[in-house]
Amino acid sequence: MKSRIFFFLGSLLLIACQSEKSKQIDYTDWSHYGGPEDGSRYSSLTQINTENVSQLEVAWTYRTGDATERSQIQCQPIVKNGMLYGSTPSLDIFALDAGTGEEIWRFDPFEILGGENSWAGTNRGVTYWEKGTDKRILFGAGNWLMALDAVTGEPKLDFGENGKVDLRKNLDTEREDFLIVANAPGVIYEDLIIMGMRLSEGLDAAPGHIRAYNVLTGEMEWIFHTIPHEGEFGFETWDSEYISEIGGANNWAGMTIDLDRGIVFVPTGSATYDFYGGYRHGDNLFANSLLALDAKTGERIWHFQAVHHDVWDRDFPANPNLITIEKDGKVIDAIAQISKQGHTYVFDRTTGEPIWDINEVEVPQSILPGEVTSPTQPIPSLPEPFMNMVFEKEDIIDLNPKWNEDIENQLSNALMGNTWLPPNPDQPIVLFPGMDGGGEWGGAAFDPETQTFYVNANQIPWVISMTPNAKFENLGQSIYTNYCGNCHGLDRKANPPAIPSLIGLEEKYSRDSLIALIKKGRGAMPAFDYISEEDRLILADYLLGNAPVESDKKELESENAQLFPRYYMDGYKRLTTKDGLYGSKPPWGLLTAIDMNTGLKKWQVTLGEIDSLSAIGFEPTGTENYGGPVVTAGGVLFIAATKDEKIRAFDKETGAKLWEAKLPASGHATPAMYEMNGKQFLVIACGGGKGTPSGDSYVAFALPE
Ligand code: HEC
Repeated sequence: MKSRIFFFLGSLLLIACQSEKSKQIDYTDWSHYGGPEDGSRYSSLTQINTENVSQLEVAWTYRTGDATERSQIQCQPIVKNGMLYGSTPSLDIFALDAGTGEEIWRFDPFEILGGENSWAGTNRGVTYWEKGTDKRILFGAGNWLMALDAVTGEPKLDFGENGKVDLRKNLDTEREDFLIVANAPGVIYEDLIIMGMRLSEGLDAAPGHIRAYNVLTGEMEWIFHTIPHEGEFGFETWDSEYISEIGGANNWAGMTIDLDRGIVFVPTGSATYDFYGGYRHGDNLFANSLLALDAKTGERIWHFQAVHHDVWDRDFPANPNLITIEKDGKVIDAIAQISKQGHTYVFDRTTGEPIWDINEVEVPQSILPGEVTSPTQPIPSLPEPFMNMVFEKEDIIDLNPKWNEDIENQLSNALMGNTWLPPNPDQPIVLFPGMDGGGEWGGAAFDPETQTFYVNANQIPWVISMTPNAKFENLGQSIYTNYCGNCHGLDRKANPPAIPSLIGLEEKYSRDSLIALIKKGRGAMPAFDYISEEDRLILADYLLGNAPVESDKKELESENAQLFPRYYMDGYKRLTTKDGLYGSKPPWGLLTAIDMNTGLKKWQVTLGEIDSLSAIGFEPTGTENYGGPVVTAGGVLFIAATKDEKIRAFDKETGAKLWEAKLPASGHATPAMYEMNGKQFLVIACGGGKGTPSGDSYVAFALPE
């Protein structure tokens, strides 16, 4: 009798404690970007566990049928009401029966947008919203935000103008001719969808303001200026007369929302131009920042800037994780943000107070003419970084003397040894962690039962060299440098096969067909429909080696001339040997578990394998990886992401590999995890790309009957 009463009281206490804490999150749910509503990429499902994971087999495969030579699928699908929603390489949106993979509907956004808008870039997922019987799928296609009926796939024509909202409008600037790609899905707060966007990295970029739209009408309800206007907080961190013309400081990584507190957490990227900021002196708030905004009004609650006056393209790459941890006997609702620079920054969700000290550390200074870099940068004392922090001479690849010598020669004149070495006018610098991280857009997973945080990383050096703008002999070259040089390289030799060389185009293209391609884009190549007809023509002539036309004589001293960077970065370059191996000692791909109560690493393992190296006796080296992990209550962590076209399962406690399977193409995406008709499924988009063969399938794994 007595014990019963105690039991009863105990239960009451437990209930009281729980309701005091935030509302319980449903961890069997996978209806958000990042899985459950907290973006944890965690599932409480246990049917698949450490004991039986090795028996997983393919349950169904959905072929999208529209892959092209260099297409990708970066989408993490969501599941709601038994339907799995995702996107195809050409950006059709689809709904499948989540149990069988059978297609229920498929929608081609270009039916509404028309052929003129046939470039939409990549898509990392869609957003679900419902109220009563009104159920919607919202998604970005290029610069358009669109809404579909989630049940039928029919466009919601009452949303915006005939089912679409133009994200180029309402940016509080004069211009509307911007390159905008809404690749990460927006987040929902009540009847609002809060949107970020990917922008050009050049001086033509739009300001990366954050906006909320009404889910029903498409009306814009609030805007937060990530590049402040005069009179707004942060304006004084720009010592620049060009502030109103400068773009970037955008959110392309996705966001996470704390629904209880009504706070949306927004990670931002660098201000443009990414590698030279001589005309944007100062810290440049709110670039490279984690913003906590009031989800209802867009007002800033707190912010943290991880890179002051960025000249390295250190965008925050993924949406942050809401985590609850225990430190010094206190339970703290915190937010954890991974970065390309290999650090995780952790804050109290409400106050923005760092959980562990973040120290301003003195860093090397730029000697580029006109450039003024920040004397210090913020470095977290904990959590421990999830990769090496320094690349020095002794870190050069040593698998054999030939490769070692090759890299030593390439670096004979280079500066290295500090993450914060700024771009230099005379010498290349080794950027490490590289431009694609560290952490990337796949994000991190958090296990709320064990307070363990899981993050994959690239451990690959990149090289930055700068070329003075004064070298430009003609306008064609300067247009090329501004819009195309980042990807195709200033020498036009690019980075085949992912980005093709533009040498010898005259053999493949007429002037008209080249202009058409520049205007329309193709695959991962953006559409330059927003630059002037005249600029496209000059550019085409320049690329085809035609004699400069009359207008080419136009001097650079146009109105914008002073806003031209005095130096340009020479193209995105990984440090590689002549045979294409990375220039550092392996591992090149990593998976790390961090105890978030202590900030200390639990384990770290190599992620991925290069068969040709394993075949000649080397330990697995890891590969470059894009796409994130999923962790489960069954004790298993799942991740694809590697370039070796595999998906793997690891023991979440030890990092031991439990299972791997070959995919039809690289799964450069984050998996989804859900239950349907009593069966647990793991689904991964296999779109290849990033230099691996493209694919067109979503593959579901489950245990045998
Ligand atoms: C974001 C990176 C990026 C930028 C910026 C970019 N391109 Fe590309 N470009 C690509 C990729 C990727 C491809 C391959 C597309 C495919 O076939 O799927 C490509 C393909 C091309 C091709 C076709 C090459 C061939 O062998 O057929 C041409 C021509 C081209 N780009 C010209 C340009 C020009 C001119 C600019 C500047 C106005 C530009 N690109 C800017 C990434 C880029």
